[in-house]
Order: sequence, then C-alpha cells, then structure tokens
Amino acid sequence: MKILVINGPNLNLLGKREKDIYGTETIESINGDISKAASGRSVEVEFYQSNHEGDIVDKINQTDATGILINPAAYTHTSVAIHDAIKAKEVPTVEVHLSNIYAREEFRHKSLIAPVVTGQVSGFGKNSYILGFEALVELLNS
Ligand code: DQA
Repeated sequence: MKILVINGPNLNLLGKREKDIYGTETIESINGDISKAASGRSVEVEFYQSNHEGDIVDKINQTDATGILINPAAYTHTSVAIHDAIKAKEVPTVEVHLSNIYAREEFRHKSLIAPVVTGQVSGFGKNSYILGFEALVELLNS
C-alpha cells in the first residue's frame, strides 16, 4: 500500500500564513504526524507540495500510489484539470481541508474536486489530514 499526500498552492507557507484560520503548524510538522500515523502499518507514504496546477496533474498522472490524500488548496474551487486527473487515475482519493470551507467566503463553498473523491474531511485543522489518512488506510485495507 502506498499513499501519496499532495498539498497544493500556498500550503508551503503554513505556520506563517493566516494563522487565525490555518493554525501555527507547518507542513513539515503535519507531514511528520502523518508519518507517525503510518508507522507500524505496512503503508509507504510519499509527500508532495506544489504551487503549480500542471505539476499536480503530472504527479497524479504518474504516481504508482494506491491511494491519494489531497489538500488542493485554492485549486479546490477552480481546477477542472485536477478533477479530471483524479477521475482518470481511479485510485481511492480523500480530499482534506484545514478550515471548514463551507463556513467561509461563498467562493470556497464549491469544491470541483469533491465529486471525484471517495470522501472529504474539512474543518479539523491538522486532524483533517490524520482523519483522512486513517479513513484511506482503512479503505485500502478492506
Ligand atoms: C484550504 C481551503 C482553501 O479554500 C484555501 O484556498 C486553502 C486552504 C484549507 O485547507 O482549508 O489554501 O484548502
């Protein structure tokens, strides 16, 4: 089992960026907690962050992962290309968001990614990743 964790644009700035919304944890510390959740289980985890839509599409096209955990960040609300890449890949995919996108500005209420994922976790800060990861591992094991 291999899970690819993808973080989209500006998530490299976590810990410095809009801390009131996204908290003080850095992407490295979130990735570290995912690695801890993976340890002791037979799951390999690869981490990938990009600010570029086409690079994220290439990564999804080319990965040999059996599951994908993705925070598409701003591309959640705009990217037909990432929607199509996930749909074409046909591996279980979980969408996560630190903030509750449905409780924020109206333009964040629509996810173009949600229709092509297995499920979504939104609003639990770092725990959105951990909960999404656990759900994906369970799914891949079942
Ligand atoms: C986000 C929510 C998006 O609307 C926003 O553009 C982000 C982060 C989240 O994790 O809460 O960059 O995906």
